[in-house]
Amino acid sequence: MLMKACTPSSVLLVCLGNICRSPTAEEVFRQQAAIAGLSIKIDSAGTSDSHVGDKPDPRSQRHAKSHGYKINKLVARQVSADDFRDFDLILAMDSQNLADLQAIKDDMAESEEDLAKLALFSEEDPTYCGSDVPDPYKGDNDDFEEVIERIESSAQAWIESWKAC
Ligand code: 4NP
Repeated sequence: MLMKACTPSSVLLVCLGNICRSPTAEEVFRQQAAIAGLSIKIDSAGTSDSHVGDKPDPRSQRHAKSHGYKINKLVARQVSADDFRDFDLILAMDSQNLADLQAIKDDMAESEEDLAKLALFSEEDPTYCGSDVPDPYKGDNDDFEEVIERIESSAQAWIESWKAC
């Protein structure tokens, strides 16, 4: 498989709990990368440890499944300093997640260029650029649907940007 120079070899998707947004993004990204013929290691994690070991929220599982994404086998974990060594790119679902990730990175001894790049998940997306994927945890069905729509749109935008370079 021919890889474009700017395609990262690994991407980590991060939200707060790793039970709603980032596991959904993990599977959407995985499917979109496969369709685009890009070989990328993809994983997800949470900034918090409150749901470590849990499967995705049943509401996220249900909404993901209705759009063709099976996330029922995924298990939540907390992001670690090693993730900044192991992944090329870490994408944050919202600006608080991004600030929390930046704080971990700032505390690490390695130089900036030896660690994962950080960005907001919506950064490349002309429709949602600069905005958060809103936390749906205390929301309703519409909020979970919006998460899927935003994730599909912003993941596609990253894939297109890599295909284009
Ligand atoms: P996520 O959603 O960050 O998209 O996985 C949440 C899951 C759990 C909580 C908050 C957000 N919580 O407060 O437990």
